[in-house]
Amino acid sequence: MKTKLIAPSLLAADFGNLQKDIEMLNNSQADWLHIDIMDGRFVPNISFGFPVMKTVQQNSKKFLDVHLMIVEPDNYVDEFIAYGADLISVHYEACAHLHRTIHHIQSKGIKAGVVLNPSTPVFLLEDIISDVDLVLLMSVNPGFGGQKFIDNTYKKIAQTKDLIMSNNSTALIQIDGGVNLDNASKLFDAGADVLVAGNAVFASENPEKTIELLKM
Ligand code: DX5
Ligand code: ZN
Repeated sequence: MKTKLIAPSLLAADFGNLQKDIEMLNNSQADWLHIDIMDGRFVPNISFGFPVMKTVQQNSKKFLDVHLMIVEPDNYVDEFIAYGADLISVHYEACAHLHRTIHHIQSKGIKAGVVLNPSTPVFLLEDIISDVDLVLLMSVNPGFGGQKFIDNTYKKIAQTKDLIMSNNSTALIQIDGGVNLDNASKLFDAGADVLVAGNAVFASENPEKTIELLKM
């Protein structure tokens, strides 16, 4: 997988005309489509579920990056894989048996990522870093789009990079929350490989152009 990837977050799309936004993304330089699943338990918000995932599967040509913000994600990973997920990321804080969950996802032939909330330290990944395809560092507290980027994320990117290097891991580093045109290049320079962007893309006047600019 090449680096400097942009993953627009569907959460900020127009659900009244989802097909139009998915087509816009198909025609754009977006690399992945980020899909936020919230259950109202792990996070204080509910997003959407399988009917939306089905529409995405039918219309999107992009790599489907599913971010599960749910308790007991093991109960649902198989169904998301059936709906075309190419990568599923689960929260460290939501998985009692993270090693099992990661290997279960990979055994189905797709990529698996682990997510850390802003307050969860990077060193906790020491014994899973060699197994994961991606580390997603939350740069806001998960649950809502349009929040302010937490600056401590830069320190966590450096720590994750070190952990990856010292373990000869091939994991990508993804950043999610408050990413915009002001911080994107700084984040790539700091070592991020994949940036999620919701409002920065969909609330902009020209989303296709914004995706292009986020990569520069
Ligand atoms: C937050 C979600 C994010 C969100 C990002 O809980 O995980 O993916 O959609 O939205 P922005 O880019 O607007 O902060
Ligand atoms: Zn997300």
